[in-house]
Amino acid sequence: MPESLDGWKRTHHCNALRKEDIGKEAVLMGWVAKRRDHGGVIFVDLRDREGVTQVVFRPDIEAEMHAKAESIRNEFVLAVQGRVEPRPEGMANPNLDTGAVDVECNAVKVLNEAETPPFQIEPDQELSEEIRLRYRYLDLRRPDVQATMLLRHKTSQEVRKHLADNGFLEIETPYLMKSTPEGARDYLVPSRVNRGSFYALPQSPQTYKQLLMVAGYEKYFQIVRCFRDEDLRGDRQPEFTQIDIEMSFVEENDVMEMAENLTRHVFKSVIGQDIPDPIPRMTYQEAVDRYGVDRPDTRFGFEIVDLAEAAEASEFQVFKNVIGDGGQVRGINAKNCCSFSRKQIDDLTAYVAKFGAKGLAWIKVTDAGFESSIVKFFPEAAQSVLQEALEAEPGDLLLFVADKPGVVADSLGNLRIELARQQGLLDPSQYAFTWVTKFPLLEYDDESKRYVACHHPFTSPLDEDLNGMEADPARARAKAYDLVLNGNEIAGGSVRINRADVQDRMFRLLGIDEEEAEEKFGFLLSAFKYGAPPHCGIAFGYDRLVALLAQKEFIRDVIAFPKTNAAASLMDSAPSEVSDAQLRELGLRLIHP
Ligand code: AMO
Ligand code: AMP
Repeated sequence: MPESLDGWKRTHHCNALRKEDIGKEAVLMGWVAKRRDHGGVIFVDLRDREGVTQVVFRPDIEAEMHAKAESIRNEFVLAVQGRVEPRPEGMANPNLDTGAVDVECNAVKVLNEAETPPFQIEPDQELSEEIRLRYRYLDLRRPDVQATMLLRHKTSQEVRKHLADNGFLEIETPYLMKSTPEGARDYLVPSRVNRGSFYALPQSPQTYKQLLMVAGYEKYFQIVRCFRDEDLRGDRQPEFTQIDIEMSFVEENDVMEMAENLTRHVFKSVIGQDIPDPIPRMTYQEAVDRYGVDRPDTRFGFEIVDLAEAAEASEFQVFKNVIGDGGQVRGINAKNCCSFSRKQIDDLTAYVAKFGAKGLAWIKVTDAGFESSIVKFFPEAAQSVLQEALEAEPGDLLLFVADKPGVVADSLGNLRIELARQQGLLDPSQYAFTWVTKFPLLEYDDESKRYVACHHPFTSPLDEDLNGMEADPARARAKAYDLVLNGNEIAGGSVRINRADVQDRMFRLLGIDEEEAEEKFGFLLSAFKYGAPPHCGIAFGYDRLVALLAQKEFIRDVIAFPKTNAAASLMDSAPSEVSDAQLRELGLRLIHP
């Protein structure tokens, strides 16, 4: 029978007692992490949020209490009262903060019993994702998971503190809103009161934060949930959190500096890590050229090098044909990978094939010179162009892809990460930041046969690209910037359009006519008629930021109740069917597939 507290009060948490506390009386409460019976003497590791303390039940204590101690099993909830004693000579546990002491129990209450859990509540257990998520409340009880949640808490406290200290106001915006044009699919919520109408859950509070600038709030922030119905991966969840920020009367550099300072404060205060000042910058074009992606992992080299010149100087028909067709020949120098076996190279070839590459040509650089079946196509002159372009030295392995620019970027961009993984260069405790700037303003959507905004339709074009924007939309670049950390986009933002004429031109480029603009963003456009200050902003992917701080691979490791890649919650079985009555009330009827 579970007992009640009856006025017992906790005096210490389970990570509090030290040598200095010896002789004190203590009351601890928590869960049984482990119970060992040493022929009458029973040892219990009592665990709470803060840590573990060993409690000792001796056979010479009152018989009834000892019987109770014998009935105790893992995960029972206990309150124990006892005296803090030193551990016997040689028995101290240096791996435990409380390892110098025991609590000699002289009274115990079993506050609740527990069934045998489906897995041991211990750190670093190899458990299936399925079982962890189904019993998330037990998974969350594991000390390492609790440490991560604590780090997440600390991060949000530091973010709030830093932004408030710098004049930002925390303002909440609605979750039931009109759909915003962020590019993903909306989650819709049917309205009972207005049958046939729907709210959208915010993909981000983008329009609201711009309205707050029109309203004169100048510096806004919010740690806010966003909802996007998109294809999920390890770094994406259907609902995720942003640190959303907007500022008035400033330019691109001011926002980037503010975001750097926030990031610097968070890394220093949460994990004691210094980050570069300033964070280096590169343009989108440079990122794609050198790393094949717009979110480069700059922790390691293996940079992509253009080899058109070497290809022209060669007699390798595969390369020459691709160049002739307007394609690219590019390569990377896999430093110190000359000893790769045939099998390893074949595996890499299969790997780049996933990204559309038709082959992966290679050259080994040895003391005797270049070695490969394709060397015969490279006369002396072509070899020295290659050698110089790739800074090749004996011991290196040179890898090449010839194809359309998109395929070259994708395959070499992913190849350099795969190589880094194989070489153990993806050290999660190393932090490499970079800004990526001057993104394309628009991209052509083959499906709808029109241009769509890369960021969102309120993003300002670069001043120098404004004039030629209509003539060559694909070339126009945006005042948009992403903060990238170890190959992850951790924040993205832009300077907003605040001039009606530029916004009109933007809508026309996007094929949005006046009627559609009015219908979709009429409220924002009317607000802009009443004095919109120049404004810009940014949003951090908070879950990604915390995952990187915690050195976790997946954002679901830093979210208390995450969803699976099928957007489901295994614990409470969401999403689930609803009753006919609920549907009727909303005026909805289901079409069963
Ligand atoms: P953006 O769409 O780039 O910009 O989002 C900002 C940051 O949010 C994170 N993020 C996600 N994290 C987890 N799961 C997802 N599904 C997901 N989608 C995005 C990324 C990204 O960098 N309103 C603009 C910001 C602005 O212009 O101020 C916006 O939402 O880390
Ligand atoms: P082949 O002449 O087809 O035997 O190819 C010789 C080498 O060139 C092989 O290592 C192929 O993987 C490689 N190769 C073929 N096509 C391409 C390409 N488009 N890009 C890069 N390497 C290629």
